Amino acid sequence: MTSDKIDLFYAIHHTRAMRRLKPDPIPDGILMQLISAANQGPTGSNKQNASWIVVRDVEQKVKLAELNRKAVDAYIDSPGSAAPERRGIVRAVKWQRDHFSEIPVLLIPCLTFDTNPTNTWHAGAAAGGSIWPAVQNLLLAARGLGLGAALTTLGLSDRPAAKAVLGLPELVEPFAIIPVGYPMGKFGPLTRRPLEDVVHYDRW
Ligand SMILES: Cc1cc2nc3c(=O)[nH]c(=O)nc-3n(C[C@H](O)[C@H](O)[C@H](O)COP(=O)(O)O)c2cc1C
Repeated sequence: MTSDKIDLFYAIHHTRAMRRLKPDPIPDGILMQLISAANQGPTGSNKQNASWIVVRDVEQKVKLAELNRKAVDAYIDSPGSAAPERRGIVRAVKWQRDHFSEIPVLLIPCLTFDTNPTNTWHAGAAAGGSIWPAVQNLLLAARGLGLGAALTTLGLSDRPAAKAVLGLPELVEPFAIIPVGYPMGKFGPLTRRPLEDVVHYDRW
């Protein structure tokens, strides 16, 4: 198992959304190492109800690419996307939109619910609580394995269509589409709000 090649805290501070990815295939062993790291994430009541769909079939990728394209185009046309500080992101998002089906692997993290999640507390803040830690594990593990990845959700905007493409049963919900591949760009340090803006002591 590949490990300890990158310092954990360095990885946390230097893992940005990597949207420009090479079409080169990811070896199966590396892919399984990646999903194994994701699979170590915690789940509520230790239900271990997360699943991962590995999409490599070109026809499947083309269908997901179309769903992503529709949502990305609507996003790009929205007023907020034109802000100067967002232009770099928009350029990368467009690149990803135009190359979605050439990216070697699209990973879909899913949760299996006991009851229809739209009718229960799952629809609230806790809905994705059992998948997001696994997703962050995956993003960091990708970095550790020399891969790039980006957490995307726009391609799931038409949820019934996405579920139909993926053949998901009613009680299995997809949470993201994570394109993974070898990065074209470089990873730099993240830019986040400073701690003095985000930390509150004892009350807001
Ligand atoms: C809930 C969520 C949804 C996201 N959806 C998308 C998406 O649909 N497409 C995309 O390109 N990036 C998406 N992102 C990535 C964010 O745009 C990205 O993490 C953010 O701009 C910060 O960029 P950085 O991590 O590279 O600093 C999403 C991130 C999160 C947390």
